[in-house]
Amino acid sequence: MNEVTKAVFPVAGMGTRFLPATKASAKEMMPVVDKPLIQYAVEEAVAAGMTEMIFITGRGKRAIEDHFDKATELEAELSQRGKTDLLQIVQEIIPRNVSCVYVRQPQALGLGHAVLCALPVVGEEPFAVVLADDLIDAQTPVLSQMTSIYGRCGRSILAVQNVGRDETKRYGIVRVEEQSKSPHRIGGIVEKPDPEKAPSRLGVVGRYILTPRIFHHLQHQTPGTGGEIQLTDAIAALLADEDVFAYEFEGVRYDCGSKLDYLKANLAFAVKHPEIGAEFRGYLKSMGCRVPE
Ligand code: G1P
Repeated sequence: MNEVTKAVFPVAGMGTRFLPATKASAKEMMPVVDKPLIQYAVEEAVAAGMTEMIFITGRGKRAIEDHFDKATELEAELSQRGKTDLLQIVQEIIPRNVSCVYVRQPQALGLGHAVLCALPVVGEEPFAVVLADDLIDAQTPVLSQMTSIYGRCGRSILAVQNVGRDETKRYGIVRVEEQSKSPHRIGGIVEKPDPEKAPSRLGVVGRYILTPRIFHHLQHQTPGTGGEIQLTDAIAALLADEDVFAYEFEGVRYDCGSKLDYLKANLAFAVKHPEIGAEFRGYLKSMGCRVPE
């Protein structure tokens, strides 16, 4: 069985939920404390042993390429001013053995289409898909949790969590056997069903490990929910060929495309930040907040 060494980051989306902040800049570059969302996503993939990062980009996303590129002038300036700590931060954004590939998605035709754009780079290998909007705070990074399951079963795995009954319309929802234990073998999956049609409350969050067979189904997809080529529909078709598992991960997920969750993520990461955490906890206490140690 091949190891998972490639991670696909669909980053062509417009980020309309965060306008006006995202009018002229990429939503994936929004910082949580001091690091952009896309960097958290890449760090998670690197921690899981992945070495090839494949970004599916679009118009207005150049900052992402610049972020992972060497910044010669900035580095020279920091070094000249003796700011070695900052220089190290800038130089260590991505390890040397990790490569970045950028593929342009010419039109926003949906998540399934974005993933299909990665086919020439991924080829016949299993790969991860990471949606940077979904920031997951976990002791063991979620992609590492998932690759270790993949190592045992060699099948596609979707990260899922329980969602509220009225939230099923925002997620891919999986059907699992009533009694099964996570990772559940899934019997079906539907994109953004109304609550009364949802087969369960298990919603897919933005972490997938997929076998290359998914490309066959993506190539044959017609537009689904919202008129877009849906990854969910291709996964539903994949079920005819292979088992697919839904994994209830350990960790707290923040949907950083939502203003409220974005603020919660900033709070969660700020209180444990090595530079400002202690002071920020003190500040929260002074405001009358109960802050866990
Ligand atoms: C996408 C997927 C959906 C999944 C969600 C997770 O939807 O299509 O199945 O549950 O990501 O964040 P989007 O949020 O892009 O509308």
